[in-house]
Amino acid sequence: MAEFRLPKNSKVGTGKTHKAPAGTKKVRSFKIYRYDPDSGENPRMDTYEIDLAECGPMVLDALIKIKNEIDTGLTFRRSCREGVCGSCSMNIGGANTLACLKAIDDVPGEIAIYPLPHLPVVKDLVGDLTHIYAQYQSIQPWLQTETPAPDRERLQSEAERAKLDGLWECILCFCCTTACPSYWWQGERYLGPAVLLQAARWLEDSRDEKTGERLDQLEDPFKLYRCHTIMNCTNTCPKGLNPAKAIGDIKQKMVERR
Ligand code: SF4
Ligand code: SF4
Ligand code: FES
Repeated sequence: MAEFRLPKNSKVGTGKTHKAPAGTKKVRSFKIYRYDPDSGENPRMDTYEIDLAECGPMVLDALIKIKNEIDTGLTFRRSCREGVCGSCSMNIGGANTLACLKAIDDVPGEIAIYPLPHLPVVKDLVGDLTHIYAQYQSIQPWLQTETPAPDRERLQSEAERAKLDGLWECILCFCCTTACPSYWWQGERYLGPAVLLQAARWLEDSRDEKTGERLDQLEDPFKLYRCHTIMNCTNTCPKGLNPAKAIGDIKQKMVERR
């Protein structure tokens, strides 16, 4: 009979509990994934009780408070704190989202926080994005032209510019890609919703002159066609974008050019 073993570090243990000081009235509990691959220890869930009366309203505010006041070792990414940089993506209360846009009051009960799923963990809430960024680079996400540059900028009509709406707003947080079951199983070769939405952004750009080459590059059984319209990507995007539609539009372009 086949025998399956879980990887050595797959078991998540119970960690430390950092209690709120006695007398704290507005206590909220955060259960946070802690893992340092270099330590050789298994991951654990540490619990932090914090006083919401002394904390900002967002989950990122709580994480910063924990790091500043309770546990300086807690590791997470963040920068803009207003949903623009895409750094603070993580799994909060069971859904991938941005910690800076997620209100503490919108998460019921004890707030469980994990890194984005199915990524190798660098430390705690920081996932390794090396592979996803290599995939992003592979679609050549910059304007490519053949005609000589004009004296001033390359112009677009209002209608041409409007075609980029719903695409340019992507902040590369990868909440969608790491929520996609097809990407979980075939992420080595499937590009995933974030990178494909970016590919759609350059295909839609009226100034770009490499549409044919871009489509050639995506014409592959794995890079594009592993999307099965499960819609997790669109449901989880914290910017309200629709990567599943962008992927559908690329497939449509493939059909049209045939
Ligand atoms: S619609 Fe496609 S990209 Fe989005 S979650 Fe489903 S399989 Fe993944
Ligand atoms: S489509 Fe949405 S979830 Fe995906 S990377 Fe862009 S902003 Fe993030
Ligand atoms: S800190 Fe920049 S998106 Fe959250």
